Amino acid sequence: MTQPSFILPEIADGEDKTSQVKNRIRKNYQHVRKWAKRCVTNCFRIYDRDIKEYPLAIDFYAGRFCIHFFSYEGDELSNELKDEIMKVLMDLFKAGPKDVFWRVRSKREKIEQYEKVAGKEQFFTVIEYGVKFLVNLTDYLDTGLFLDHRETRQMVASYAKGKSLLNLFAYTCSFSVQAAANGARYTKSVDLSNTYTAWGRDNFIVNDLSLDNNEIIRADCLKYLEYDAGSYDVIVIDPPTISRSKKMDQLFDIQTDYVSLIRHALQKLNPSGVIFFSTNSRKFRFDKTLFPGCTIQDITAKTIPLDFHNQKIHQCYLLKVSPAAFSTFSKVVAKD
Ligand SMILES: C[S@@+](CC[C@H](N)C(=O)[O-])C[C@H]1O[C@@H](n2cnc3c(N)ncnc32)[C@H](O)[C@@H]1O
Repeated sequence: MTQPSFILPEIADGEDKTSQVKNRIRKNYQHVRKWAKRCVTNCFRIYDRDIKEYPLAIDFYAGRFCIHFFSYEGDELSNELKDEIMKVLMDLFKAGPKDVFWRVRSKREKIEQYEKVAGKEQFFTVIEYGVKFLVNLTDYLDTGLFLDHRETRQMVASYAKGKSLLNLFAYTCSFSVQAAANGARYTKSVDLSNTYTAWGRDNFIVNDLSLDNNEIIRADCLKYLEYDAGSYDVIVIDPPTISRSKKMDQLFDIQTDYVSLIRHALQKLNPSGVIFFSTNSRKFRFDKTLFPGCTIQDITAKTIPLDFHNQKIHQCYLLKVSPAAFSTFSKVVAKD
């Protein structure tokens, strides 16, 4: 694959005595830019609730800005705050209003929603570790690429080199695309949504990755695991916290459903295989005693990227079956 070219704007040094938030964004950007240039990445976080009075996260996506306002106390996003941040981004990056996209995040949004919020179809390409991803900042609540899992994708890709990967709750297939671009022999991505499976397909295509050995399946993962005849070297399970869809029989709740999900996945694992399990739920508690015969490592700290200052953005676990216990997991024969 040819290495895509990309530009990371340089921004001027110099403290602004009138704006603490501007100084912080400058400092964060300049710090992460050095790393990003080295790692061929043009999408990253440049502000992460660093100052209490500014409850925002600002993500840089190839010259555009996605700003999350956290309204946990029920506060409204004021025009004053929007104007102030717009001015900061204009001063630092020469950004215009068409480059800035706001999202309001509320704790009350308990059930994850995936419907379209607009129909502008403004997709553009960003680059993460040299791999392209299609992002959309106008039409959906989420952008198509969860930046907090950048390092997890690298770990998964490294485990999956020359091997097979099953990506459950795949969304836009970013784990699979990063793995395939780094030499995974075969990937299978499963998600309930037609929109996101189509988006995932486009993510493979934009990287010139063949769809012959990168399958995408639209299905309910909980049901799919019961009839899938494949077996895999790496399985990624990164589900929503709570989800309800007309396409599902029942409500999905991570805290109750993770046990059956992981137990089913363990049955699909090849010898020496690994499961990456992750959740964005803060309340989630992983009970390791429920998986006898497995070694379970909390790899959260290793998977938090340098630009994320909130260490609780996700939890991540690596599961391996100890050789002695492997035969106790019922196995099915690999299809490919
Ligand atoms: C949090 S996102 C997953 C993020 C993804 N793992 C990534 O790293 O980009 C949740 C995804 O789960 C899908 N989903 C929700 N319930 C599902 C189910 N029962 N079976 C399959 N997919 C489901 C949604 O369509 C959505 O794409």
